[in-house]
Amino acid sequence: MPATVIVGAQWGDEGKGKIVDLLAQDCDVVCRYQGGPNAGHTVIVDGETFKFRHLPSGILSGKVSVLGAGCVVDPEVLLEEIDGLEQRGISSEPLRISGNAHLIMPWHIAIDGAGEKRLGKLQIGTTRRGIGPAYADKAARLGIRVQDLLDAKILRQKIETALQEKNIWLERVYELEPFELEEVAARYEGFAQRLRPFVADTSLLVDEAIRGGKNVLLEGAQGTLLDLDHGTYPFVTSSNPIAGAAATGIGIGPTRIERVIGVSKAYVTRVGAGPFPSEMEPELAAQVRELGQEYGTVTGRDRRPGWLDLVALRYAVRLNGITSLALTKLDVLSAFDELEVCVAYRLPDGAETRDFPAHQSDFHHAAPVFETVAGWAEPLDECATLDDLPREARSYVDLVERELGVTVELVGTGAAREQVLARR
Ligand code: IMP
Repeated sequence: MPATVIVGAQWGDEGKGKIVDLLAQDCDVVCRYQGGPNAGHTVIVDGETFKFRHLPSGILSGKVSVLGAGCVVDPEVLLEEIDGLEQRGISSEPLRISGNAHLIMPWHIAIDGAGEKRLGKLQIGTTRRGIGPAYADKAARLGIRVQDLLDAKILRQKIETALQEKNIWLERVYELEPFELEEVAARYEGFAQRLRPFVADTSLLVDEAIRGGKNVLLEGAQGTLLDLDHGTYPFVTSSNPIAGAAATGIGIGPTRIERVIGVSKAYVTRVGAGPFPSEMEPELAAQVRELGQEYGTVTGRDRRPGWLDLVALRYAVRLNGITSLALTKLDVLSAFDELEVCVAYRLPDGAETRDFPAHQSDFHHAAPVFETVAGWAEPLDECATLDDLPREARSYVDLVERELGVTVELVGTGAAREQVLARR
């Protein structure tokens, strides 16, 4: 049975956690293939709210939950999350961490914060969790991996080698205090003792599960437009959230993936800096922020709301090979009599395009071409299936399907697990 990828089709925060949690009910293995504690997944089950930064949402359902090689792991955050779950009676026993995943070290967090401060007005607005510096060290082959936790001597040696360089940067470039070898080594050895039982050959585990006919879900963090190679660079994260990266991030062949479910809000939000053509006017944005509770799970920052952008979504369908869509938070739009949908961009030379601009200057100066559509202006609480949606809401979904050539398989109408509509 081939694997399914769930991917964010916008700038992250599309409500993937909830969709993954729902689909995880019928799955055997749930994996995260990239990112680290910059992610924030909120899942509400039986009125109880769970917020995850590191763990795959499948852990709530007791499914084998994998952090793949493409992830970066902050042991402190992960252990806090594990302890929090255990206190609520949920076992972390099914967690498996790839030995090839890289560790976020304290200097990564220090450099992330200091680098942003140094950029001033040009800052990216990162989550300051050390994500960029950890992936940079991975590419520079200076990183420390999860498997280094398995041997105290190797761990100490790697920390020592890294600190010889990092402390110079910290002191001379960023004017920060250096880290002390013994202190860091002792702290990470403490983390190591607790994390060792979770370290596994996750590439083998996932491949065997797929070949054994198990249902495997590969869960992307962040979203398509935050992709390092194809997103709105430099306002992106430092990994590849797009579906193609699921194969490399886990260590399976691309032929093992058959379905790609894109998750998109019925509108758009973005956190941090960067261009955003369909961004709403401040007053409307404030209303949507409040209705949709659009505040960052990780940083608590205000998210920037915008109208649904079909140009960007069409790009996401292309980049990910999306086979169907989950449209979340449709209920938030119940507050409006009329809705705008961005169907094209007007470029600086006056031309209109329905395809995402390949050049950054075109995107930075793109003006949205909106189509006004009728709202439904009524709550969606009574709907049991997609076919029960009010006529205007159904038209809204039809418009998305028609414009993108992709079926909307699921529609979210509220925060709880059961508030997701499928077809009858
Ligand atoms: P970083 O991933 O912390 O380096 O942040 C880089 C950019 O990605 C910033 O604009 C962040 O706001 C954004 N970002 C990172 N993770 C998430 C997420 O889970 N949701 C939304 N935006 C994110």
